[in-house]
Amino acid sequence: MDNIVIIDCGSQFTQLIARRVREMKIHSMVLPWDVSVERIRESVPPGLMPSGLIISGGPDSVNDEGAIAIHEDIFDMDLPILGVCYGMQLLAKFRGGSVISGENSEYGTTPIRRERQSRLFADLPESFEVVMSHGDRVERLPPKFHATAFTKHGVTAAMESDDERLFGLQFHPEVAHTQHGSEILRHFLFDVCGCSGDWNLGNWVTRSVGEIREQVGDRYVICGLSGGVDSSVAAALVHRAIGPQLECIFVDHGLMRLNEAQQVLDSYAGLGLSVHHVDAAGLFLGRLKGVTDPEKKRKIIGELFIRVFDEEAKKLRTATSVDWLLQGTIYPDVIESGGRKDKKGSVVIKSHHNVGGLPERMKLKLLEPLRDLFKDEVREIGRIMGVPDAIVDRQPFPGPGLAVRCLGEITRERLDTLRAADAIFREELARANLYEKIWQSFCVLLPVRTVGVMGDGRTYREVLALRAVDSSDAMTADWFRIPADVIDVVSKRICNEVRGINRVVMDVTSKPPATIEWE
Ligand code: XMP
Repeated sequence: MDNIVIIDCGSQFTQLIARRVREMKIHSMVLPWDVSVERIRESVPPGLMPSGLIISGGPDSVNDEGAIAIHEDIFDMDLPILGVCYGMQLLAKFRGGSVISGENSEYGTTPIRRERQSRLFADLPESFEVVMSHGDRVERLPPKFHATAFTKHGVTAAMESDDERLFGLQFHPEVAHTQHGSEILRHFLFDVCGCSGDWNLGNWVTRSVGEIREQVGDRYVICGLSGGVDSSVAAALVHRAIGPQLECIFVDHGLMRLNEAQQVLDSYAGLGLSVHHVDAAGLFLGRLKGVTDPEKKRKIIGELFIRVFDEEAKKLRTATSVDWLLQGTIYPDVIESGGRKDKKGSVVIKSHHNVGGLPERMKLKLLEPLRDLFKDEVREIGRIMGVPDAIVDRQPFPGPGLAVRCLGEITRERLDTLRAADAIFREELARANLYEKIWQSFCVLLPVRTVGVMGDGRTYREVLALRAVDSSDAMTADWFRIPADVIDVVSKRICNEVRGINRVVMDVTSKPPATIEWE
């Protein structure tokens, strides 16, 4: 099967290149810029030696001190290589050409004119619009290279080696606003690299099931289930591979939505998974008593979660020979931790609750079968495995659950109020056929009381905020425009049916400047 390795030099579009390649039914993987030839060879799954390499764009300038530079011997791997933008500049520099900064820089959409025949541009018009996003440009081509397209200012827009193995594009073929971008990539992948486009998720499942069986042998695997898409699909897959050698733990922290824990458990039972349900609501709520600081809440929940999981796992480990911990890590999680390593990591906006500390603590090997898949591919695999739609189509839900949506002190009573309101919001969105169109929608209970009037009486109750956002990766989000008549029904129902609330407001902030969750 074909495999294209994409080397990430820090461009915001790297993931998009990976997507485009996958859309052409070719397996792709992104590796960080400092990857060595040996590491490339080690990283590719068996039977997936690369058919070609793509070097992404990046924010640096190749002439700057400390700029990202990939290992030069990668160019000697005897694979076709496509350098995009910064990738082209690296290619030019390493092969003996030169790059200059600044002058005549072209950003945004600009026309290019083809100069000579190129396999990348076969059947394309003489001139078309492309997207540029870099100030540097190749000034002198390396020996045994020729230019194949120019911009209107005479900047080299595309070059290639005379033996048609190394290609550079100053523009981004992966973005939607580059005309014929997909065709250019297609020519590189199929005509130059010789890919056949036979990657599909059904094959992926068969191959993955075989690999899991081989890896695990007769040992046992444990898995923490959250009710979310990724851990559920990972468990369904591993269950198909090794059946009863998989033991799952579902830690119920008492911070799920209305009836959610039971629904999730029912779905797991339907899949035939062996799930150990730990009802730890009392423990979690006890420790959260009186805590109002968001970061403290998150820390308490994260630590407690690991403790409870660990204790439950210990019981299983004395009964069986557990060697593996299954995690539903998916590709964007992996890529986010790649990229540039020489810059300080970004600031902690919120400490995310996950089981990251577990493998070292438990001395288990990590099994991450979904680590090269994108979210929609994980959903598709879930459908192939028969995971119910209620789980596969679930909106993302934060690990600390309603704790970060119940602002101020968390009490059973306030959680019940929030749950009742949230259920109404969900019900009305579903009735209006909106629920599935929205990335995330939820209620936030505010520790603020306002005066109201109901019947003849004065009320003094808490405020509830409605939040709905549109997003594709949760990195940025726009507030979702729910029609006013739907909001009206939601607001009326909540004030009438939920005792603790007498006022409903709507959050109309995007991310940035706000985050999706309120805490
Ligand atoms: P924010 O609020 O930072 O959230 O814009 C981005 C996305 O992450 C989800 N989220 C979490 N997910 N553990 C998780 O697994 C967490 O602690 C956590 N906190 C926020 C949030 O719902 C949104 O989808």
